[in-house]
Amino acid sequence: MATLSIFGAQWGDEGKGKVIDRLAADVDYIVRYQGGANAGHTVVVGDKTYALHLIPSGILHPGRINVIANGVAIDPISFLGEVDGLIVRGVQINGDNLVLSSNAHVIFEHHKVVDGLAERWKGEGRIGTTGRGIGPAYADKASRTGLRIADLLDPERCKERLGAALAEKNALIKRVHEAEPLDLDSQLEKYSTLADRLRPFVADTGKLLRQAYRDGKSILFEGAQGVMLDIDHGTYPFVTSSNTGTGGIPAGTGFPPVWVEKSMGIAKAYCTRVGEGPFPSELTDEMGDHLCKVGREFGTTTGRARRAGWFDGVAARYAFELAGTNSWVMTKLDVLSGLGEIQVGVAYKHDGVRYEEYPAHLPCVEDVEVEYRTLPGWNEDISDVREWDDLPANAQGYVRALGDLVGAPVALVSVGPDRAAMVTCPK
Ligand code: IMP
Repeated sequence: MATLSIFGAQWGDEGKGKVIDRLAADVDYIVRYQGGANAGHTVVVGDKTYALHLIPSGILHPGRINVIANGVAIDPISFLGEVDGLIVRGVQINGDNLVLSSNAHVIFEHHKVVDGLAERWKGEGRIGTTGRGIGPAYADKASRTGLRIADLLDPERCKERLGAALAEKNALIKRVHEAEPLDLDSQLEKYSTLADRLRPFVADTGKLLRQAYRDGKSILFEGAQGVMLDIDHGTYPFVTSSNTGTGGIPAGTGFPPVWVEKSMGIAKAYCTRVGEGPFPSELTDEMGDHLCKVGREFGTTTGRARRAGWFDGVAARYAFELAGTNSWVMTKLDVLSGLGEIQVGVAYKHDGVRYEEYPAHLPCVEDVEVEYRTLPGWNEDISDVREWDDLPANAQGYVRALGDLVGAPVALVSVGPDRAAMVTCPK
């Protein structure tokens, strides 16, 4: 494998961190290309649990080069906090194994303030963001008022551009949101100290990655969030502010799309979503509570309880097709153990029309009725299973049925949080 993309095929939290961590052992470069510290990847190594937000999961493997490319929105406070936290726990980090793009946009204090304030105005249209300043930072990037890491490292340019940005944001914060404005001088002082600490990590990551490819190095692109949260193709407006699928790679890295050779989606054996927005197969009953409890469904980034539901084959098929997947990894199959029967969404129904294909128009998705197929469950605890033949026949049947439903074979099944808890599926 020379270049591989890993993406989430649901609404995020599919368990990508664990899969990426496993694959990272065999690659040279691991690259984040979109999103920011809104992501949360949990990796369990032996008795240690690591919650990564901005730093690629490859950091836990010595000798790998971890890249945060230009499409990521970087909060220097989160970034350095994560670096410090990992160093304290014995992880080796320096400018050789962790590289930041000079063209990535910076998330400032004012982006986080506006993220929180703007949500309060939205009423029913509230997105339930992570509050990490993601939307406001990407909005500034598109309006050409943002600052890139390179601007932050240049004191004169930073003063000029942050001054102009804050003048506008402070007017908004004060007059529209009736909140406390931010002081430019103290912001400049704070961010110039952070800039000094960022400097050793900064490089032209597009050039670095293209050269790595030419040198025959293997590269893993690590998607954050999931396709259903993609700004263009997800459940807009209840989405994040970046392209979360494979489509985000070329723009978010400066790496040619034709050089990305394979892609692998990650989806849970059921579904979850955190924050607001349509979720057709959501279970608001005891079964939903059961999935949340057994699956420990609490956000890695915000600690919020996730919403849970049955596997949605319509949305997953759409996500896999959009991102173009060769095979996929089904995570958390162990959570379904002990259920007599398991439901799987196979079609949507709306106003008397049956949809096997995901309808792109949001109002239809908001109140569709899901048509389910019932599959038989299994009682055995499968968390110690490591071989396909040791899985109960109904668990094997469930994996095969979901592969057929979404039109892409399942390559691996994850049956527990630990790195080793994986079963390889027969071809
Ligand atoms: P934002 O990305 O903070 O603007 O939040 C937008 C929406 O995406 C909200 O519904 C969040 O809960 C959701 N979201 C953002 N990042 C993640 C993630 O890593 N996992 C799951 N949901 C996420």
